[in-house]
Amino acid sequence: MNINTVSTQPIDGQKPGTSGLRKKTRIFMEPGYLENFVQSIFNAIGGAEGKTFVVGGDGRFFNAQAIQIIIKMAAANGAKRLILGQGGLLSTPAASHLIRLNKTDGGLILSASHNPGGIDEDFGLKFNVPNGGPAPESITDAIFQQTKELTSYKVADADDLDLDALGQQSAGDMTVEIVDSVADYRKLMKSLFNFDAIRQLFESGFRIRFDAMHAVTGPYAHAILEKDLGAPDGSVMNGVPSENFGGGHPDPNPVWAHELMDIMMGDDAPDFGAASDGDGDRNMIVGRGTYVTPSDSLAVLTANAFLAPGYAKGLAGVARSMPTSAASDRVAEKLEIECFETPTGWKFFGNLLDAGRATLCGEESAGTGSNHVREKDGLWAVLLWLNILAVRRESVAEILAHHWSIYGRDYYSRHDFENIPTEQANTLMTGLRDALPDLPGQTFGSETVASCDEFSYSDPVDGSVSHNQGIRVYFESGGRAVFRLSGTGTQGATLRLYLEQFEPADGDHLKDPQEALVGVQQAALVICDLQNLTGRSEPDVKT
Ligand code: G1P
Ligand code: ZN
Repeated sequence: MNINTVSTQPIDGQKPGTSGLRKKTRIFMEPGYLENFVQSIFNAIGGAEGKTFVVGGDGRFFNAQAIQIIIKMAAANGAKRLILGQGGLLSTPAASHLIRLNKTDGGLILSASHNPGGIDEDFGLKFNVPNGGPAPESITDAIFQQTKELTSYKVADADDLDLDALGQQSAGDMTVEIVDSVADYRKLMKSLFNFDAIRQLFESGFRIRFDAMHAVTGPYAHAILEKDLGAPDGSVMNGVPSENFGGGHPDPNPVWAHELMDIMMGDDAPDFGAASDGDGDRNMIVGRGTYVTPSDSLAVLTANAFLAPGYAKGLAGVARSMPTSAASDRVAEKLEIECFETPTGWKFFGNLLDAGRATLCGEESAGTGSNHVREKDGLWAVLLWLNILAVRRESVAEILAHHWSIYGRDYYSRHDFENIPTEQANTLMTGLRDALPDLPGQTFGSETVASCDEFSYSDPVDGSVSHNQGIRVYFESGGRAVFRLSGTGTQGATLRLYLEQFEPADGDHLKDPQEALVGVQQAALVICDLQNLTGRSEPDVKT
C-alpha cells in the first residue's frame, strides 16, 4: 500500500466547539479540510500508530465519503484496527459504548447532531477518548493547536471499502471490522432495564410513538421498541435514516418535532411519545397532552431510577449543566446524594462518571444519560421512562404532578436568538460582564437582582478550571436568568437565554410556563439590552 504525505497549510477556524468541529458541509468537503482536521487529531493524541479506533456517524450527507477518507488516513498513520458501524452508521451513544466495550484508543464520530444535514447544511466531526466520552478541553485545545501548525497529512492509496459488508476487510496492514450498528447497544440496554415489565406494559395496551426524525435512531428503535419490547409495528415513525433527515431539522424539541407534538396533544393521543436527534444522543419526552421539560425529566429519572434493575442499588450522584434547572438538585438533596453543576457540554460529565461520583447526568438541551456510556443517550432515556411507567402504572402527567407536589416545580424555558452578527453578540456579553458588579439590588419590572456572576467551573476530579461559561443572574423572587452564546452554531452567533422560576410544593403547578416566566424574561431582556444592541426582541425558538 502506497502512503502519500501530502503538503498542506493550516486552515483557519478549525477550533472544536461545544461538541467537536461543526461547519457547513461544503466547507468540510473542500480539498484538505477534513484531512487537516483528522491529521490534527492523530497528531494531538501522539499519533495513530498501533491504535484501534471506532468510526461511525449519523448518516448525514458526506458521512460515507468522509469515512472512506478517515479509513485511508488511519491506515497511512499506522493504525492497527478500525471498528465501523455497518453502512457507516453509529449513534453517538452506541459509538461511545463500542469504544468502551472494545477497550479502544478512542473514536471518530461524524455528526453535527441536531443541525440539519445536506450539502448546504451542516457536517461535523469529533474525537472521543478511550473512556468513550468527548475529548476534554486539554485534548481539544491540543487538536486546535495542531490545526494551526500542520504542514502535511498522510493518506494511503487504497480502494474504497464496502461499508455495508459485515465482517473483516483490510486497508493495507490495518484491519477494518464492520459490525452491526445496533447489536451491542441493544445488549447493553437489556442489561439495564426490565424488558419483561416493559413488554407487559405494551401487552396491556399501552401505546407509544417514537419519532426518529429520519435520523440514526430509526434502526435502534425498530429493533428495541418494536422487536424486543413488542410495541406494535408503526410505533416508530420516521425510522429510516436519510442523508438530509427528510429535509427537516432533527432536533427533538416541541418546535422541530411538531409532527410528534401534534399527535401527542391531539385526540386519541398515545400514552407516551418520544423523539431523538440526528445522532441519537438527545431525547424529548411527552406524555398524552403533557410535555416534560428536559430539566424535569432529569429530576423525575433521578427520583425513580431505582425502579430499573441497572440502578436498583441507588445513585452515587447527579450532575447537570449550569443552565439546566435546579429541579434535580432538590431530588439529590432528598436522596442525600452528591449533585454537581457543570459547564454546558457533555465532556464536563466524563470525570464525574469515571470517578464514580455521578450516576445520572443531564442538560436542559434534551440530553440525559448515565454511567453506562460517556455520552448522553436518547433511547436510554426513553427506556428508563418506560421502565418507570411499567412499574408505577401511572400516566406521565400523574408522575409529574406527584413529583411537583413533593419537590415544587421549576418553571423553565430557553429562548434562542439566532444568527446575531458575532460582533453584536460579543458586545452584548461584554456589556453584561461589565454590568455584573452593579446589578445586585437593582430592580427591573417585577424582579430585583439578588446576586449574579459569570460561571467558572473547577473540576472536582482533576482540578482543571473552565472560565467564561455563561452569566447567571438570580432574582429575589427565586427566579434565574442565564445568558450564554452557543458553541455549536455554524453561522453568526446564537444567544441562549435560559429562564427559570421556582414554584414551591404547595404552589400552583399548572400555569402556562411562558406566563410563569414573564417577570424573569422581561427583566433579562432589559439587563442585556438586547433590543438596543441587536434590534431583536422576539426569540427564534422557545423550548
Ligand atoms: C448545545 C447545547 C448543549 C449540548 C450541545 C451538544 O450547545 O446547549 O447543552 O451539550 O449543544 O449537543 P450550545 O450550542 O449551547 O453550545
Ligand atoms: Zn446529538
